[in-house]
Amino acid sequence: MTPVTSIDRIAEREGQDATVRGWLYHKRSSGKIQFLLIRDGSGYLQAVLVQKEARPEIWEAAEAAGQESSLAVTGSIRKDDRAPGGYEMSVRDVEIVQSVSDYPISPKEHGPDFLLDHRHLWLRSKRQHALLRIRSDVEHACRQFFHGRGFVLIDSPILTPAACEGTSTLFETDYFGDKAFLSQSGQLYLEPACQAFGKVYCFGPTFRAEKSRTRRHLTEFWMIEPEVAWASLDDVMELAEDLIVHVVGQVLQARREELKALERDTAPLERVVKPFPRISYDEAADLLERKGTGFKRGDDLGAPDETAISEAFDRPVMIHRYPTAVKAFYMQPDPDRPDRALCVDMIAPEGYGELIGGSQRIHDLALLEQRLREHQLPEAAFRWYLDVRRYGSIPHGGFGMGIERLVSWIGGIHHLREAIPFPRTINRLYP
Ligand code: 4AD
Ligand code: MG
Repeated sequence: MTPVTSIDRIAEREGQDATVRGWLYHKRSSGKIQFLLIRDGSGYLQAVLVQKEARPEIWEAAEAAGQESSLAVTGSIRKDDRAPGGYEMSVRDVEIVQSVSDYPISPKEHGPDFLLDHRHLWLRSKRQHALLRIRSDVEHACRQFFHGRGFVLIDSPILTPAACEGTSTLFETDYFGDKAFLSQSGQLYLEPACQAFGKVYCFGPTFRAEKSRTRRHLTEFWMIEPEVAWASLDDVMELAEDLIVHVVGQVLQARREELKALERDTAPLERVVKPFPRISYDEAADLLERKGTGFKRGDDLGAPDETAISEAFDRPVMIHRYPTAVKAFYMQPDPDRPDRALCVDMIAPEGYGELIGGSQRIHDLALLEQRLREHQLPEAAFRWYLDVRRYGSIPHGGFGMGIERLVSWIGGIHHLREAIPFPRTINRLYP
């Protein structure tokens, strides 16, 4: 029996026979020779079938098999620098597992709705495959980063009794006659956990009933959130910067092929080194006024403002100390200027918008109680959260990073929905 080999390890079979199992990605025929491009999930291999060397039934079965037929090919492996992946197979045997003739996604152009309706199949296409491969590495690199620094993983709940990021984007569900909400962020649960473990993080799906149809918003997205006891705003910014440098570096090192498949210009990624520029909200407002974007000082930054700021820098930029009034209830005010919050947003280069949002948290019980009232949040649902300020309260802080935002920017793709395997948006719950 010829050993089954995955395409990413085909070099080990050079000069020998191998069997590769996979799907027919593309086929080209010169009449007497069929060039079968096989994909197996790990890579692409050109398999060459010559009519005069093949048994007639094998030749015919291969001729009849259309795109995405499942099959196993066996033959000898040789090096060929012109072939995709650098190796080629001279085919001796083909076993068609399922012959397909009507695969819906052809190499021709399809519209985005058609492709999203066929997302379960679209995943097999080269660009999508490359992007999700990068996503997988991004997630792995994030975990590596936090575990390498002694963070403890604390899985936060999805079903929650209260809002973290404002009540306007809550998904509500019935919980045995009570109301529950899908989590908008794990942060509120990490704050008590950091007082138990010091440095913690969570990583999971988060939900926002975003009514806006923008290319940067999903209703279900994945967020990685660290929370650190004793951390100041500066500590939070430094951690955010280190995380981005680590993750981008890992992708550049391991996913060159995928970045090439996406036709990503990697120069902006190579520039992601420390230190990232840090500007205050007020400096950002000065910059926007000079640029004349129509920005009104005191407002939160909109997507066009973020894009205008990103254009002024060659790497991610951190904007700190936004007006307290436009930010979340839990943010610690700046002692030097209480109308400003000790918070930071990291804006991606090239107009990709906010990658990270974080802050130092209010650690004073009375002030937090006051903020809950100002934001009309139900104190009963936050009793446990207030306890964190009752028993050994300390300064602490953290941030949240949206995985799809980071993957979109790294991959250089237009719309966030391609950066997640099965996207959920205001008008999409299928497949
Ligand atoms: O700025 P946000 O709302 O911050 C929080 O949720 C904090 N509780 C996090 C924390 O401090 N632990 O969201 C954080 C990040 C954003 O910077 C963005 O990358 C991403 O989550 N994000 C979204 N990504 C996709 N679709 C959406 N609708 C998103 N909303 C936020
Ligand atoms: Mg934010």
